Amino acid sequence: MLWLLLLQVFASCLWLGHSEVVTSFASCSQFFHAGTPPNNVLEPQNPAWICQRYSNAYHFATLYNKDKRIPAYSAYIYQPGPGARSKSWFVEPQLINPTYPKNMDTEYSLQKKYKITPQQIGQSQAINQDYNNLKDLNRGHLSPSCHRNGNNSKWSTFTLTNIVPQNTAHLTRCWVIGDIPDAWSLAIVTPSHKKGCKANLGNYRRVHLASLPRKVMEQIVLSVITWHIQDSEGISPSQQRFRKGTSCLENLISFDDQMTSPVDEGRGCANICLDFNKSFGTVTHGILMEKPSAYGLQRCSLGWDRNSLMSRPRECW
Ligand SMILES: *[C@@H]1O[C@H](CO)[C@@H](O)[C@H](O)[C@H]1NC(C)=O
Ligand SMILES: *[C@@H]1O[C@H](CO)[C@@H](O)[C@H](O)[C@H]1NC(C)=O
Repeated sequence: MLWLLLLQVFASCLWLGHSEVVTSFASCSQFFHAGTPPNNVLEPQNPAWICQRYSNAYHFATLYNKDKRIPAYSAYIYQPGPGARSKSWFVEPQLINPTYPKNMDTEYSLQKKYKITPQQIGQSQAINQDYNNLKDLNRGHLSPSCHRNGNNSKWSTFTLTNIVPQNTAHLTRCWVIGDIPDAWSLAIVTPSHKKGCKANLGNYRRVHLASLPRKVMEQIVLSVITWHIQDSEGISPSQQRFRKGTSCLENLISFDDQMTSPVDEGRGCANICLDFNKSFGTVTHGILMEKPSAYGLQRCSLGWDRNSLMSRPRECW
């Protein structure tokens, strides 16, 4: 009896590990931070857990809403690299029928293989027809192909289970012209009472609430810029502040070493300290803008910087 039970558990593990539409993300947990998928807050009513499989390898994980035929999220590891974009769009065979193959496939090939109609495919997932003839909207990747390395990995993102309608005008303006959407630049300022008399304005702290998509985008842009500037040696290794994985203590120790060794050798030593203060607040915006362009930053991301520096509308609540 126990053997039978063990065998059953073993068989169900096998089934899990080899399936594309799974009952949990256990077989592709490597795409989540610390191997832990989010809790069920984002879970739709009729969910599908998809370990996105292409060319016999897992590439990312998607939580899919089968009723609304749209993904809730895709989890992936950011590894940008070379490769080509796919010319075809894929769908998920196992959302049509759990016995179908685990690798994503094109609608055309599934129609031929299983003698099914696009309508049958489209019952629990989006199909090409949903995205044809859309006005001002196109296919937006939740796991973008430009964050992937190699042909297979990039092509795996071209499954419609990874796609949401995306406002093209919005994005083009944002990236090409460097213009931030108004809703992104608006900071909502709420006064938060510190202590003392509430009638005295000086007793309030201003709390700025910036838009969340903007903050996420800022972090991405910042990490790429930092990367680029460190690679092209725009930041010297002795710069400790504002760099990840460095500490001011290290700088102090190395500085102390440089100061004390001449003294030990009986030589004189002088030290001039310049306080640059918080550069962002005090350096002229023109200089802040010139520096990155000298390191080869493109016009569009510079437009972003300029936009964030010059126009910060505020609204008080
Ligand atoms: C990737 O795909 C492109 C276009 O299909 C092809 O020219 C290239 O050789 C492929 N690269 C690799 C490494 O297979
Ligand atoms: C920077 O300078 C301003 C004004 O000159 C001053 O109020 C502020 O305390 C300084 N900040 C630091 C970190 O020294």
